[in-house]
Amino acid sequence: MSHIVVLPGDGIGPEVTAEARQCLELLSDRCGLGLTFEERDFGGIAIDRHGVPLPAETLDACKGADAILAGAVGGPQWDECEQRPEAGLLQLRARLGLFANLRPSRVLRGLEHLSPLKKHICTGADVLVVRELTGGAYFGEKHYRDDYASDLCVYTRDEIERIAHVAFAAARKRRKKVTSVDKANVLATSRLWRHTLEQVAGSYPDVALDHLYVDAAAMALVTHPRRFDVIVTENMFGDIMSDELSVVGGSIGLLPSASIGESGPGLFEPIHGSAPDIAGQDLANPAAAIASAAMLLDLGLGLAEPAALLADSLEATLRGGCWTTDLHGKARCSELGDDVRERLASQFTAREAHNELIAMNRGCCG
Ligand code: NAD
Ligand code: IPM
Ligand code: MN
Repeated sequence: MSHIVVLPGDGIGPEVTAEARQCLELLSDRCGLGLTFEERDFGGIAIDRHGVPLPAETLDACKGADAILAGAVGGPQWDECEQRPEAGLLQLRARLGLFANLRPSRVLRGLEHLSPLKKHICTGADVLVVRELTGGAYFGEKHYRDDYASDLCVYTRDEIERIAHVAFAAARKRRKKVTSVDKANVLATSRLWRHTLEQVAGSYPDVALDHLYVDAAAMALVTHPRRFDVIVTENMFGDIMSDELSVVGGSIGLLPSASIGESGPGLFEPIHGSAPDIAGQDLANPAAAIASAAMLLDLGLGLAEPAALLADSLEATLRGGCWTTDLHGKARCSELGDDVRERLASQFTAREAHNELIAMNRGCCG
């Protein structure tokens, strides 16, 4: 039994989370996972209904959940609000202590043509961005006057150490290479970042560490994406680098994320925003939300096998040519979700047939 709080949010958020939730419901039914769901207002819709983007009841529900599935927040109608919808997302990350944000992206074999990069450049790219999520300029002291504004960028050694450990531990399970991205030629926070990364690297002699300045890293990501395994970087660089990474694989509509803290529920959400330009038209790509649901099962609930079933079904859908318009296809958001669920259901039917066969053989021979 696990309880999931769903925060559909604004724009395409409700459309993509509906598809992801239905995938989780199907898995729960067929695998007997006993998942329960509860939807809460969050973002712009919460401003409209409660006056704030993160109402106390939404925060309390999240704190009591086993995992959280979110869509996206924001939209032009709330851009001038004193507390914008995006502030609600930052508050939620901070209040739940979600300091580690994992953003994985892979160019699927046979689907290299979905990438705007040339095939020989993008083939085989497989990168995990580990983004620090509760520090830096996002959370430093802010001042805004008519003629002056500032955002203080602060990092402590402890904050850098804990995200470095997440990156090295992740690299150990992958190709054992961490690239730390900073701006140590200019920023004091980046110099502390680089020194701390070097120190933490001492505990992981089996993992290689290199450093790139963020401007060079931005270039290398689209010229030599295969040079990267795990990228670890501070909050704002990670935000920007991960949107760039998403198009290496084809579209921002493909890239999921998991936000994790020391304890308590994780938050699982696509990296994209509320896409006001396509909202309400069943045009959004729900793949990132569905892949986030797979990360929720695996990292959030420790259900690796159902997570793999969902991830495999999504991959099969994409390989099968079910592409939304961001991938230059014609599929609707709901059609892509349906296709994933059909493939999930057929995996179960095949398994059940296999198990029946084994039982019959046992009956005859055993
Ligand atoms: P965006 O990610 O919403 O959209 C950028 C472009 O990508 C748009 O052309 C959009 O149509 C397209 N796109 C995004 N997701 C897609 C999907 N799943 N399928 C197909 N196309 C998709 O970024 P933006 O336009 O800069 O921001 C819009 C709003 O979303 C802003 O208010 C912003 O603050 C907010 N935002 C929220 C989150 C979040 O809640 N996690 C993340 C990013 C942006
Ligand atoms: C993201 C978004 C958020 C961020 C915004 C909406 C606050 O862009 O999750 O990538 O910058 O972290
Ligand atoms: Mn972003």
